[in-house]
Amino acid sequence: MTIEEMRALLQQSLKPKRYEHSLRVYETALQMAKHYHAEEQKVALAALLHDCGRQVSKEASAAKAEELGIAVDAVEKAQPILLHAKLGVYYAVHKYGVSPDDREVLDAIRYHSTGTADMTETAKIVFLADLIEPGRDFAGVEDIREASWQDLDRGMLLSYDNTIRYLLEDGLLIHPDAIAGYNQLAAKYLMAHNEQNKSEKNKKKN
Ligand SMILES: [Fe+2]
Ligand SMILES: [Fe+2]
Repeated sequence: MTIEEMRALLQQSLKPKRYEHSLRVYETALQMAKHYHAEEQKVALAALLHDCGRQVSKEASAAKAEELGIAVDAVEKAQPILLHAKLGVYYAVHKYGVSPDDREVLDAIRYHSTGTADMTETAKIVFLADLIEPGRDFAGVEDIREASWQDLDRGMLLSYDNTIRYLLEDGLLIHPDAIAGYNQLAAKYLMAHNEQNKSEKNKKKN
């Protein structure tokens, strides 16, 4: 299936608002892929299809996942909207013709909502493009936008920080994949910060 055919099928499958959001994520992700010299085709495919699982309503998603043999974890059970990521992987393969071996594209779809540790560049770009596309307007989005164009990991860390705060404020659950992603990047920047302090102290000694 060509990307134009996918786009037409996506338009038939999603509500107009969700489809338009998908196009903006696609455009934003492509710009980011160029900026970071990432794999444009993988990014384009994953970005366009990232929300294709939204063809199933939140209410119907747990039953649909069960019907398709998709494992539902405790957090997804409590917040079934998260399931659109796993459902999206299913539709990407069975409806849009993405190869089941294309881990790069499928993992970017799978983790676009929660994030996780050890994400590929493609997955980080799709995750961030989803948050910063021009239609997004939430407290803190400008900081995430700015960081995302400077350093993908900085953008990711700010995104986890923002999302986790919002989830706590609203009394919602935090998916373990999001915590794993946050911890990995927080550790990276904490260690870099400690190293910097050490070398500054050494400079003063000498
Ligand atoms: Fe999504
Ligand atoms: Fe999205």
